[in-house]
Amino acid sequence: MHSRRALLYMPGDNWKMITKSITLGVDSICMDMEDGTAINKKAEARETIAKALQELDFGASEKLARINSVGSGWEQEDIEAVLPFHPDGIVIPKVESFEQVEWASRIIETAELKHGWPVNSVRVLIGVETAKGILNLKEIAAHPRLDAIIFGGEDFAASIGATRTKDAVELLYARQAVIVACTAFDLQPIDIVTIDYKDIEALRVESEFGARLGFVGKQIIHPAQVEPVQKAFTPSDEAIAYAKRIVETFEASQKEGKGAYSLDGKMIDMPLLKNAKKVLERGLDRGL
Ligand code: COA
Ligand code: MG
Repeated sequence: MHSRRALLYMPGDNWKMITKSITLGVDSICMDMEDGTAINKKAEARETIAKALQELDFGASEKLARINSVGSGWEQEDIEAVLPFHPDGIVIPKVESFEQVEWASRIIETAELKHGWPVNSVRVLIGVETAKGILNLKEIAAHPRLDAIIFGGEDFAASIGATRTKDAVELLYARQAVIVACTAFDLQPIDIVTIDYKDIEALRVESEFGARLGFVGKQIIHPAQVEPVQKAFTPSDEAIAYAKRIVETFEASQKEGKGAYSLDGKMIDMPLLKNAKKVLERGLDRGL
């Protein structure tokens, strides 16, 4: 799966931001037709994204297009405008049911067959950001076309009538629900946007907290957010070194017939080994 530490949005009608985004070394670029695009700019966004997919070299960045939600009335035209130019993935916001993913998946498969592209080469990432979406995660996350679930903090707070706070306690349950569903179905959980984009310290704190919860990446909205977010979602050298030591010492202790043993004054057993292997996997994904 593509590494998605930082997923950058920009309004789909903003050619300047799209051309800027391909210079940033960001993991994923998400050209938006939904809430980042004004209602009177939807048509322009479709055309601009189609042009970008045809004319620009995105390098190693993943190229994604976010359509409007299924049922908005815009979704069909959105997906049809961009699919012929083979984005790496379609992002569907505010998903609340398996059928909504299936709707997109069928349209995508038809396009894949028509153009002679490998089936499943256009991936689907979904936003889950409403009470219904969280409640139905178990069914939604089972869809085979999915790569990732993006948790929308602002939309979710609006959905349940919560007041947003800096430490985001009001979102904790839903964030963890998304992580659990993703892990169960081998998907990537992607965390909330820090909308206060000028406060890089707040971004760092929120990113590190998200990474500790188990998210593999975070949505961003401004170039200044790329570097701090990529750093927070890349295991540190110390974390990698410690994980390697656990793997090595665990093997040795198993040979000695011990399931649990002590390393630097801490008890190590199977769950800690599993966690260490996860850290190493994430490091490997990033070429560490
Ligand atoms: N992607 C690519 N480039 C971006 C960008 C983005 N999301 N946000 C800003 N830039 C560019 C600007 O075009 C500007 O480029 P320049 O130096 O070549 O002129 C540079 O980065 C600095 O931008 P800045 O002046 O600090 O920001 P701004 O005031 O123009 O815009 C926002 C601030 C929040 C309005 C803007 O970042 C934005 O629209 N972000 C995306 C919002 C979005 O898509 N929301 C929906 C999904 S949650
Ligand atoms: Mg949203």
